[in-house]
Amino acid sequence: MATVTLEKLVKRYGALEVVHGIDLEVANREFIALVGPSGCGKSTTLRMIAGLEPISGGNLKIGGRIVNDLPPRARNLAMVFQSYALYPHMTVRENMGFSLKIAGMKPEEISPRVEEAASTLDLTALLDRRPSQLSGGQRQRVAMGRAIVRDPEVFLFDEPLSNLDAKLRTQMRTEIKKLHAKVQSTVIYVTHDQVEAMTLADRIVIMRDGYIEQVGSPEEVFQRPNSKFVAGFIGSPPMNLKDAEIADGRIVFANGESLPLPKQFADRVSAGRKVTFGLRPDDLYPTGHGIHSGHETDVHTQDLRVSITEPLGNETLVFSEFGGHEWVGRMLNPRPLKMGEMLGFCFDLSQAHLFDRDSGKTLRG
Ligand SMILES: Nc1ncnc2c1ncn2[C@@H]1O[C@H](COP(=O)(O)OP(=O)(O)O)[C@@H](O)[C@H]1O
Ligand SMILES: [Mg+2]
Repeated sequence: MATVTLEKLVKRYGALEVVHGIDLEVANREFIALVGPSGCGKSTTLRMIAGLEPISGGNLKIGGRIVNDLPPRARNLAMVFQSYALYPHMTVRENMGFSLKIAGMKPEEISPRVEEAASTLDLTALLDRRPSQLSGGQRQRVAMGRAIVRDPEVFLFDEPLSNLDAKLRTQMRTEIKKLHAKVQSTVIYVTHDQVEAMTLADRIVIMRDGYIEQVGSPEEVFQRPNSKFVAGFIGSPPMNLKDAEIADGRIVFANGESLPLPKQFADRVSAGRKVTFGLRPDDLYPTGHGIHSGHETDVHTQDLRVSITEPLGNETLVFSEFGGHEWVGRMLNPRPLKMGEMLGFCFDLSQAHLFDRDSGKTLRG
């Protein structure tokens, strides 16, 4: 059973604390993504789990056992880095088998393991090549193969796809997902890319400045962000987040324009409250062109002038001004739009979010 448990885990570099006592329970065979902006402590946390960084405080348990002081080798985990760190003078076969050789395994035991991993990763035809004769995606697969042959209970990935171009990244994402289904290990996967986190993980851990902001399934963190930070970090294009003030059942923006207070917040805020109003592009759309078109329960309609459009084929992103802010909406089944044209928009207020402006915390119940 490879559960991974972080209990008040702290990392200090000298006097500087960069991970502030975080708690996390990773279930056996769960795929967890640690996501957050650069510098928030993702790699440091992963490296403490791997045993590559000493732990400054708290406990790390693997399979229920405290492993704070165990060396990496004794933790039964394998790590895949962003830089593939392959040995250039070795073939794919030798690269993949190297850690087993170091561990003292006999060649006749190593061979079948390497061949099985190669077949899983579609590398069989490449076993006798050197890294310089491989594409970026193939090198990344070899780096994964090197981890798989060790049959670890826990896989740790640190931004493994960051060096690949967009198309290859999408392909490799699918392969990593298939791989997880096949090997059924516990995975902790670090990325700054929320799309990667959303598409891969069972649960997402959103980190910020050395703290965990929220943990939840992709659906939970998307639909019920606990803070303005999570709301703005998850989802693409990002949620419209606009500062406003509550007055008399309305949300009033800086230029005096306003929206009705969404019904779900009617009893939760009173006049004078400074808030940030949040609405996803999916919930702001030209009338008749939204996901919930015709089924809205709390909708505000408003004519707006189209400032910019970004046609994406199946949908068009539509930018316009309201309340002294720029908003982005999503038009499904798009028709061609002209810049500057007036268009009726729906604000689906049943899907709106409200955050306290100062604390950034949700005002949802
Ligand atoms: N060896 C180090 N010495 C001092 N500070 C470090 C060291 N490694 C990382 N940090 C700091 O720790 C914080 C978290 O870094 P890191 O875990 O690499 O972030 P992330 O992987 O989320 O981008 C950053 O502020 C970084 O500057
Ligand atoms: Mg990092």
